[in-house]
Amino acid sequence: MNPKYFVLAFFAFGLAVFAYNSFAPRPQDPHTVQTTSGKAGAPLANVDVPELSGLVAEGRTAFEANCASCHGVNAAGQDGIAPPLVHRIYEPNHHGDAAFQLAAKNGVRAHHWRFGNMPPVPGVSEQDVDKIIAYVRALQKANGIF
Ligand code: HEC
Repeated sequence: MNPKYFVLAFFAFGLAVFAYNSFAPRPQDPHTVQTTSGKAGAPLANVDVPELSGLVAEGRTAFEANCASCHGVNAAGQDGIAPPLVHRIYEPNHHGDAAFQLAAKNGVRAHHWRFGNMPPVPGVSEQDVDKIIAYVRALQKANGIF
């Protein structure tokens, strides 16, 4: 065979690999992808709710009073408004408890999603946020996020 064909085949193969890498679907990167269901306000996660008692149940009350208007019922997020906190990007290793305290105190500059910034939440005490953290961690755990 004419060696020219080998050279051609070599480049054709390279081009095919390049095209595949450019156009093949990639696994979604949670840092840039906005989860959307296409319906404003719809929950963005399917959350199994475990039995809640004590501190964790108090946390739910505090969450519903201070956070659910954006993060949704059961912290499942709301399309177009705010992300689910029951999501693997908020697992304890990635967003430790301090991130929750800071979020409530100072707000959050949008960086993981495209919902815009989270404003500081006034009138929520550190103790309230501790309970909220216990609640969110319980939900995360019940949904395989830990
Ligand atoms: C006005 C809407 C709104 C309210 C109220 C709200 N959040 Fe948020 N929150 C957001 C949005 C939007 C983001 C996503 C920011 C981003 O793109 O990363 C967010 C992100 C977060 C994060 C991730 C922080 C980080 O470091 O990435 C935590 C934790 C959080 N919120 C906790 C809470 C808690 C706890 C409450 C209640 C005390 C609360 N939020 C109330 C809108 C809200």
